[in-house]
Amino acid sequence: TSSLPVYTQDEVSKHSSLDEGIWVTYKGSVYDITKFVSMHPGGDKILLAAGRALEPFWALYAVHGQEHVLEILSEYKVGVL
Ligand code: HEM
Repeated sequence: TSSLPVYTQDEVSKHSSLDEGIWVTYKGSVYDITKFVSMHPGGDKILLAAGRALEPFWALYAVHGQEHVLEILSEYKVGVL
């Protein structure tokens, strides 16, 4: 029973710049990671996922399959798909 707003993939895809904000999706949730981008240990690579799903990128960079990474992501949740 979440009270967070529901977004479409189309709305998410419009948030792919620092001006509009950088949003990503993961497992049905939407995250506004604008404030995290400059703190990312993997640098600007994170922008490849802007407005898109994280899954294909995290499948390639398995370093993200750790509890502490998911904890960071959870701080930025703004909605659901
Ligand atoms: C490393 C978070 C998206 C590429 C990391 C680490 C964190 C992190 C916490 C350090 C992990 C560790 O060493 O224990 C995130 C979050 C993301 C995200 C929260 C999305 C919101 C991405 C994307 C890519 C990427 C989309 C690639 C397209 C990398 C790479 C490293 C890394 C290459 C390794 C950096 C190094 O150790 O030299 N990320 N990441 N990340 N990330 Fe991400």
